[in-house]
Amino acid sequence: MRILMIGSGYVGLVSGVCFADFGHDVVCMDKDAAKIEALRAGRMPIYEPGLDALVETNVKAGRLSFTTELVESVAEADVVFIAVGTPSRRGDGHADLSYVYAAAREIAAAVKGFTVVVTKSTVPVGTGDEVERIIRETNPEADVAVVSNPEFLREGAAIEDFKRPDRIVVGLHDARAKEVMTEVYRPLYLNQAPMLFTSRRTSELIKYAANAFLALKITYINEIADLCEQVGANVQEVARGIGLDGRIGSKFLHAGPGYGGSCFPKDTLALVKTAQDHDSPIRLIETTVSINEQRKEAMARKVVRALQGDVRGKRIAILGLTFKPNTDDMRDSPAISIIRSLQDHGAQIAAYDPEGMENARKVMDNVLYAEGPYEAAEGAEAVVIVTEWNQFRALDLARLKGLMGHPVLVDLRNIYRAEEVTRHGFVYESVGRPQ
Ligand code: UDX
Repeated sequence: MRILMIGSGYVGLVSGVCFADFGHDVVCMDKDAAKIEALRAGRMPIYEPGLDALVETNVKAGRLSFTTELVESVAEADVVFIAVGTPSRRGDGHADLSYVYAAAREIAAAVKGFTVVVTKSTVPVGTGDEVERIIRETNPEADVAVVSNPEFLREGAAIEDFKRPDRIVVGLHDARAKEVMTEVYRPLYLNQAPMLFTSRRTSELIKYAANAFLALKITYINEIADLCEQVGANVQEVARGIGLDGRIGSKFLHAGPGYGGSCFPKDTLALVKTAQDHDSPIRLIETTVSINEQRKEAMARKVVRALQGDVRGKRIAILGLTFKPNTDDMRDSPAISIIRSLQDHGAQIAAYDPEGMENARKVMDNVLYAEGPYEAAEGAEAVVIVTEWNQFRALDLARLKGLMGHPVLVDLRNIYRAEEVTRHGFVYESVGRPQ
């Protein structure tokens, strides 16, 4: 299959490279010439474990190339994936579809022969219909089938998720397109990954319903964690106790500072808006969104409390800035709100993140960016673990304490055991666990 990816951001790039690895001929296209130039030179625009090696192998094998040129690439493709960004529109939370529609117009003008146009970007229900309308209006001769094929990739584990998916969801209304999509995913089909064919609208909704459910699940365990703190219970044991029930499942029950990232915050908001627009509000998700927002402030207050209610002029070390480990993505990271709130309380922030500091600098300039966790902790009154990077899991606690002005460790990801930390003379706070 000759595949064109329009948009070489996170989703487009990972999907394109993995399709090439399946043996398809893939062209990844992006309007950003600097990004394409970097990719051609083997430099990745994002941090994703294993991505650079996979790009190199597939470029060498002649199955993967990068371009800024769209017209010819569309004409040559059997399948064109739209994998452009759908950011939250400023002001109303709706997904901004202007890049998707622009891509549809360009595809329509350039398409030759039967071509399957697949929306991989996360798009609200009904977007596929609009993409089809735009293509037919722009070029009534175009022989296309418009398909929805949402992605479920987790940053940091995206390649693994792509190659071993729980399921592949494909929404379509065209038998020829079904054949093509089956061929595109054939290597996974042979691995018995369930492939769910459904209507286009259903497929679009599955993506939002899945992400909103996971956001809800996290928010639920976060609220249970708050209750645990009040009643002296342990949220990790509660999570294990409920997660062993097959109907609940043990994943996504880690209490923490609230969910962030490029998907959950944006997708929950978009689902809320779609539901409201259709007079079918999903109040559970409306509430999830507001609880998660408030939670970040609450985490900052937790740090302030750990320092006896006063952080004015005090140095606080933040370990971990990205919204989760193994990514350099700062989008909607809880660290941003926590840091801003602590600064509002008068604290001075020193921070360290293994991969996220370059992106963090773009959103927060009044932070002292340290060389490592120990450098960040120098003279600090508290160390706060916001992201559970592996390298923070086995800190030399004696060394850490020696560097600090005051030994307080606030562990917002529950990666330490209280006995171990307090044995080193720290005041230790975590999330939803007895002191
Ligand atoms: C998510 C979905 O998992 C993926 O299927 C979708 O396609 C894109 O969005 P991602 O945003 O990369 O992936 O990360 P994920 O691992 O899902 O974590 C999202 C956020 O939830 C992070 O901030 C993480 O720290 C938080 N989280 C996750 C928890 O607080 N507790 C958990 O148990 C799991």
